[in-house]
Amino acid sequence: MNIRSLGYIGIAAPDPAACLDFATRILGLMPARACPGEDWGTPAIPGSGPASAGSGTAADGSVYLKMDDQQWRIAVHPRPGRAGLLYMGFEVAGPLELEQALRELNAAGHAAHMGSAEEAAARAVTGIGRTHDPLGNTLELFYGPVKDRKFASPHGTRFVAGELGLGHINLMAPLLPEARDFYVRTLGFRLTDFIRFGGGNSANFFHCNARHHSVGLLKVADIPGVHHLMLEVDGIDQVGQCLERVEAAGVQVTSTLGRHANDRMLSFYMASPFGFEVEIGCEGMRVGSDWTPCEFVEGDVWGHRGLDPETIQRNLAAMAGG
Ligand SMILES: [Fe+2]
Repeated sequence: MNIRSLGYIGIAAPDPAACLDFATRILGLMPARACPGEDWGTPAIPGSGPASAGSGTAADGSVYLKMDDQQWRIAVHPRPGRAGLLYMGFEVAGPLELEQALRELNAAGHAAHMGSAEEAAARAVTGIGRTHDPLGNTLELFYGPVKDRKFASPHGTRFVAGELGLGHINLMAPLLPEARDFYVRTLGFRLTDFIRFGGGNSANFFHCNARHHSVGLLKVADIPGVHHLMLEVDGIDQVGQCLERVEAAGVQVTSTLGRHANDRMLSFYMASPFGFEVEIGCEGMRVGSDWTPCEFVEGDVWGHRGLDPETIQRNLAAMAGG
């Protein structure tokens, strides 16, 4: 199976409007110009545009966020209770590749099925299928996303996305061997590198394109969920400008500014209303098809105070309201 990129994610949260505010005012994302499934209207007829009128908010209260040419990259759906990941969308090349991917998933014992035209329209893609990973996360495989262009960040932020996907997501992996097998053997991701930090804990990084990793599997005790979502911006000034907004708004910095040893990302981490941390970084490393995996013995060149297992555990519990 050949996954092209992490194309989108969906989040469940009790207050999508608060997530929209955080995403636009702090992160620099843009409300989607239209929500998936909406009629775009006729460009030549004034006032015939989508009903959401660039608010990024759909009739059911879901919020859609844009970071590049793609219509949307992050959705937040209203759900009572704790915020958290609802689904991840992985892009495949086309309709035949989607059919083949679903066959391979079923053959490997992971129930997978093709979605309807309505389900595809609800994600603004051409075709869609669904399955689950061994950690219980919902995975959507899709092809043909709507590209409406015209991204304009409220803060002038330029995100490094496009063919590299929206960034990376680091999943907590109590069932590390099963999860690793699923992402590598079935989905076709390749191991980039890994770090062991004692007590059977480890961070493992997997790529499906030139981005150092699109998926990370982090084993810290048996904690489930998501550790963080990383969005890459175009240069250190944009990382610093986001950090200034974070400090001015009183958002909690969960890991200080630093540079990772493996993907060379210069970044910091913050608490978010998404139910997991958000990392904003730049200068992430690219890998080629000739990459060979390696083991790192330390996580950082400098900085990133707050990424030790104990602090990770404490921050996740705090964000989950536990
Ligand atoms: Fe990261």
